[in-house]
Amino acid sequence: MIEKMTTDTAHVEARGFSVFYGEHEAVCKVDLAIPSCRVTAIIGPSGCGKSTFLRAINRMNDLITGCRTKGELLFDGQDVYGRDVDAAVLRRRIGMVFQKPNPFPKSIYDNVAYGPRLHGRRNKAELDVIVEQSLVGAALWDEVKDRLHKNALGLSGGQAQRLCLARALAVKPEMLLMDEPTSALDPKATARIEELIVQLRGQYTIAIVTHNMQQAARVSDMTAFFYEGDLVEYAPTKELFTRPREKKTEDYITGRFG
Ligand SMILES: Nc1ncnc2c1ncn2[C@@H]1O[C@H](COP(=O)(O)OP(=O)(O)O)[C@@H](O)[C@H]1O
Ligand SMILES: [Mg+2]
Repeated sequence: MIEKMTTDTAHVEARGFSVFYGEHEAVCKVDLAIPSCRVTAIIGPSGCGKSTFLRAINRMNDLITGCRTKGELLFDGQDVYGRDVDAAVLRRRIGMVFQKPNPFPKSIYDNVAYGPRLHGRRNKAELDVIVEQSLVGAALWDEVKDRLHKNALGLSGGQAQRLCLARALAVKPEMLLMDEPTSALDPKATARIEELIVQLRGQYTIAIVTHNMQQAARVSDMTAFFYEGDLVEYAPTKELFTRPREKKTEDYITGRFG
């Protein structure tokens, strides 16, 4: 597979980046560079700002009243919060998958075709190709190819989550944000999603929030450990889990709190 871009470059770069809810600084002056076409895991105890940071990358926090940012957050070298940035365009370039699979109450086909149609694709043959490619990409095609026009609500949890991933892939994003994408799934469905993440690596920049440290260790290249809004440590995953530099990281990964 030819990689879309060189992997040494930062796709996302936070510089002194903070996110506030009213007066509360939920993410505090974070400096972090997320490499292109690699998997970056964000770990840390509940409430430490993982989701807030993740949502800041494609401006999902815009939808929350009282939420504001400070500092810089660059995507592909461009300030995400710059005046000329269209959040809808940004969200097409940066797809998102949530904790609970949230397929639309429509057919499997229409779920995947939703984004492309929204962006003006109408040609049936063209949509057929996009739907198939996206479902193949999300490792769901074989399971659903004979029931594309059945309601997506009939899928199992694991299938529904892969459908959400296919829906995200259908608009050809450059980056995927995943917020605890397996926490509602059983171990078998979780393993499928983890395999898929490893497969997608190399084609997409992936940032995954997980409270499961084994998962972070299995799927990611880089790991960022957050604690109370601060980025405590950011390192290659192997290094962070075997030779943490910070006492706080060590305490967390050895299960002393969290
Ligand atoms: N919509 C919101 N409004 C106000 N405060 C919020 C909101 N979402 C999260 N917070 C607060 O921001 C902090 C970080 O939350 P969050 O990013 O959800 O943490 P995590 O994903 O690590 O569990 C917490 O103190 C949480 O209570
Ligand atoms: Mg969260």
